[in-house]
Amino acid sequence: MTEIKIEEKVMDKFERPLISLRISITNRCNVKCFYCHHDGIVPRNYEMTSNEMQRIVKVAKEIGIEKIRLSGGEPLIRDDIVDIVTKISSVGFRDISLTTNGVLLGKYAEQLYNAGLTRVNVSFDTLNPETYKRITKRDYMELAKNGVERAVKAGLNPVKVNMVVMKGINDSEIWDMFQFCKDTGAILQLIELLKTENCQESEFFDEYHFDMGELEDELSKISNRVKTRRFMQDRKKYFVNGGEIEIVRPMDNTEFCKNCTRLRITPDGKIKPCLLRNDNLVDLIEPMRRGFSDEELKKVFLKAIENREPYFTDKC
Ligand code: GTP
Ligand code: 5AD
Repeated sequence: MTEIKIEEKVMDKFERPLISLRISITNRCNVKCFYCHHDGIVPRNYEMTSNEMQRIVKVAKEIGIEKIRLSGGEPLIRDDIVDIVTKISSVGFRDISLTTNGVLLGKYAEQLYNAGLTRVNVSFDTLNPETYKRITKRDYMELAKNGVERAVKAGLNPVKVNMVVMKGINDSEIWDMFQFCKDTGAILQLIELLKTENCQESEFFDEYHFDMGELEDELSKISNRVKTRRFMQDRKKYFVNGGEIEIVRPMDNTEFCKNCTRLRITPDGKIKPCLLRNDNLVDLIEPMRRGFSDEELKKVFLKAIENREPYFTDKC
């Protein structure tokens, strides 16, 4: 077992420590969700190798990164996904997670757990096959549902179900989804639709945006306990009737960005300081290929961190 030694934290100029690194390992995906923000990434053809990722996380650990998340596109579409997790895990992190649409999770859950993956979030918005097809343009509802179940059985913990709540599409399913998660042993994470480059037109946003304010009021009344996830953008976690519900509400929530502790890496190896911006990326892969030392790569990270600023602020 690799020793997990936590390095001194680097802070950005807004005094936010950098704790978590999200690596988007591919832009490719096997579903076509109409609302998808593609993790804020502009498509490119080049994808980093597992060795390159291993080197990046090693340097990231030296600036204090404790948690790694793999995302996409769809990360399980990469044939070398088990190798990627094995190599990252060998560096030693307390938390290695993955965000997936679940379609291939039934196939990989056990192998990923054995490779060192600790937990998984599954984008899964509905239990209704027709609604699933409407959202994803694919017929994979049962596969994704099975993926959630297999992930829990494999020992990944927690397994979170990401449900983007949309008006007139799946807003009536919140409590069915809660029951499914409770029965399966998963946590329901309700996500408010985010306005991103894809859904800039306010028509799209106005049509589907479901404000979770009322629901949060109800949850605070009926829950036994509420927890605020301090280094997790101040998100709220409600403990209700023997189950758990987390809420992700970045829009109009200045606390959200104030408490953001993440950095991202794009599939082609650029550091991305904010999900919602693409004008401040810092290239890491070119310097790496030119033979930069770990110390020099650390400086590249620090340069990216210098430019970090909250996207939603009191001023906007
Ligand atoms: P954990 O709670 O640690 O499992 O992470 P997570 O919930 O952030 O991960 P996941 O990939 O499942 O993302 C869930 C939701 O959070 C998605 O809807 C994302 O759009 C949103 N999100 C993730 N990172 C950011 C971010 O940096 N900024 C904003 N505004 N939203 C984010
Ligand atoms: N608004 C909110 N959440 C989104 N996701 C993708 N696009 C959006 C959006 N426009 C969620 C997916 C996935 C996570 C990484 O981001 O559900 O689980």
